[in-house]
Amino acid sequence: MDALREAVRSGRLAPGTRLPSSRSLAADLGIARNTVADAYAELVAEGWLTARQGSGTRVARRAAPRPGPGAGNRAGPGRGAFVPARRPPVRRPPAHTLHPGMPDLGSFPRAEWLKAARRALTSAPHEALGYGGPRGRVELRTVLADYLARARGVYADPDRIVICSGFVHGLRLMAQVLRGRRVRDVAVESYGLDIHWNLLTEAGLRTPALPFDEHGTRTGKLGRQGAVLITPAHQFPLGGALPPDRRAAAVDWARRTGALILEDDYDGEFRYDRQPVGALQGLDPERVVYLGTASKSLTPGLRLGWMVLPEDLVGDVLVAKGHSDWVSSALDQLTLAEFIRSGAYDRHVRGMRLRYRRRRDQLVAALAERAPDVRVSGIAAGLHAVLELPPGTERTVVQSAAWQGLAVQGLDRFRHPDVPRGRDALVVGYATPTDSAWTGALDALCRALP
Ligand SMILES: Cc1ncc(COP(=O)(O)O)c(C=O)c1O
Repeated sequence: MDALREAVRSGRLAPGTRLPSSRSLAADLGIARNTVADAYAELVAEGWLTARQGSGTRVARRAAPRPGPGAGNRAGPGRGAFVPARRPPVRRPPAHTLHPGMPDLGSFPRAEWLKAARRALTSAPHEALGYGGPRGRVELRTVLADYLARARGVYADPDRIVICSGFVHGLRLMAQVLRGRRVRDVAVESYGLDIHWNLLTEAGLRTPALPFDEHGTRTGKLGRQGAVLITPAHQFPLGGALPPDRRAAAVDWARRTGALILEDDYDGEFRYDRQPVGALQGLDPERVVYLGTASKSLTPGLRLGWMVLPEDLVGDVLVAKGHSDWVSSALDQLTLAEFIRSGAYDRHVRGMRLRYRRRRDQLVAALAERAPDVRVSGIAAGLHAVLELPPGTERTVVQSAAWQGLAVQGLDRFRHPDVPRGRDALVVGYATPTDSAWTGALDALCRALP
């Protein structure tokens, strides 16, 4: 309750903000619903919040941020002392975040995970508690081979799988291997994540951008590069699936030139309106390095990912990783193996697919009603959507959202430096808020749109 009072007092929760229902906040925090209901009632009695039938609990209009009586005074004003409303400070932390790249952390299946951890630890051999080899635990590689073949159409032999600490670690290992093989250029997509491009650049590789059109990345333009990094199942951040002829063109190019395709399959499980698009790796397991991660399907905090490698690359990647598995916890690997083996992973992904789909539908419906001029695209899959804005408005919209306590990112943030400025848009990560924060975040988004 103190934290909530402080959030209102400091202005972090803007006046008028609708708070989650006591039931969903209690579920997020893992505490009794009554505890939340009591805290709300007390804060209403103190005047920080208002509660009205039908419109839920909101931050009181007059509960404006109040400056402390002097610098360094950490005690702040007394309880219940209000000052007149004034413009909120510019740099307050956002009340809502719709940045892409994050699953709903409140939905991590804690209880199922703990059960899997207990079972995994109980049956683990003593040897599993040692340093472990660079391939990663065989239990995990074995269940992953089966899962990836079944769910993503990946040709996966456990001996060709190397466990890594998330996609970023896998990419770093590949950068090292490619440099060792005298590769100079790794082609990347026109839009993507600068952390990935920077990581390749830091390893001494150049990252020329491939041209892009309304059908996606133009893989027919691949030339003398030694490898290409792409997101074929769901382009990040624009959202489309790479069309079949462009998938084939990439594989033909790799076969013809001996180059490699680095396939970033970061959210392949989340497709809503039709069958999942299978992994590109299935087309040619000797030319495609498949990189998967638990960051979207479970949580980035696990730092677990997997590489499925062409046979002649396994040795180099193991050398790059080192003699032991210094990076991924054996206990987490065993737990994930048990989580997948028991069917809990499939159940979790199925459940999250439904939830995210519902959110996506709510986003589309809210935009149709409250911002009908904003076209939304990239919604068939994944955890984010692209909202087209009128030309020249992207920066203003991002800034005005920030003023209203909503952190949201513009498309330009994901543009490769060699690519000319393109359309104005927002990239909205609708999976990012917890269930209880979602409605407020959506409301804030609609208010920020032109
Ligand atoms: C395009 C893309 N690839 C990969 C990842 C996953 O990275 P990691 O497994 O290192 O958490 C993300 C996560 O945000 C992503 O957006």
